Amino acid sequence: MKVFATYNIKGGVGKTATAVNLAYMAGQSGFRTLVWDLDAQGAASYYFRIEPQLKGGSERLIRRKRNLPKAIRATQYDLVDVIPSDFSLRNLDLDLAVEKKPASRLNKLLGSVRKNYDLAILDCAPTISLASENVINMADWLLIPLIPTHLSLRAYTQLKQFFINEELDQNHLIPFFSMVDKRKRLHRDLIVDFATTHPELLRTYIPYLSQIEQMGTHRAPVGDFAKNGAGARAFDALWQAVMARTVLAPTDAGSFTQDG
Ligand SMILES: Nc1ncnc2c1ncn2[C@@H]1O[C@H](COP(=O)(O)OP(=O)(O)OP(=O)(O)O)[C@@H](O)[C@H]1O
Ligand SMILES: [Mg+2]
Repeated sequence: MKVFATYNIKGGVGKTATAVNLAYMAGQSGFRTLVWDLDAQGAASYYFRIEPQLKGGSERLIRRKRNLPKAIRATQYDLVDVIPSDFSLRNLDLDLAVEKKPASRLNKLLGSVRKNYDLAILDCAPTISLASENVINMADWLLIPLIPTHLSLRAYTQLKQFFINEELDQNHLIPFFSMVDKRKRLHRDLIVDFATTHPELLRTYIPYLSQIEQMGTHRAPVGDFAKNGAGARAFDALWQAVMARTVLAPTDAGSFTQDG
């Protein structure tokens, strides 16, 4: 199993939209995909029409490994399952803090289902926390949506610096632009500048589209209700670019083993 996380300490940049749509695309490509909704807001669970509820809350979920498989729910899409969120996840840091190895606890839990999935996509809350430390430790790649604003790009620079300071592998950072309005000169200029100084930037981006906003109305990935629309095409292109970057081939679907 390969593990992705949609991650950004900034809120409202498209993390959940990315997690949900890429999971849908991955399922369509034959990858057994698990979305873990780690945000107490439960937006990813909502889009997949899964009740945001964990029996016994986050405390119980992280206490025993066997509680994780029990929390998994099927979605209406083939090959896509979800571990729903729960409002108790707002206390996740406190619950993790009392565990023996708090920074790797979530990874240990995920170990119990690794053999059942080709991909896991973790949808994270916009914070820096013990939970995000877990996520950074367990994800093979961080998918980082960036909106074309100075502050958003600054946050990315800070994250990259954190990776350098902690001697983490920067190749695990996959930034891409999200909510892009090509009519705005500032967007165009910031993207060109950033691309010239950041070779790791994915050369595909997600435009600002009302179709993507409408996911909330349909409670579905954009590819479900607007199959050949611009939104679905953008997320398909992103999925192809992510596969190319991470050397996932369509033939990998169904073929990862336990240590993947
Ligand atoms: N490309 C897009 N075009 C237009 N609207 C978008 C796009 N991507 C996301 N949105 C909308 O913007 C809002 C924030 O998106 P999303 O929830 O994916 O961000 P997030 O980073 O997960 O936010 P949070 O930090 O709160 O978890 C949502 O209402 C969503 O529908
Ligand atoms: Mg979100």
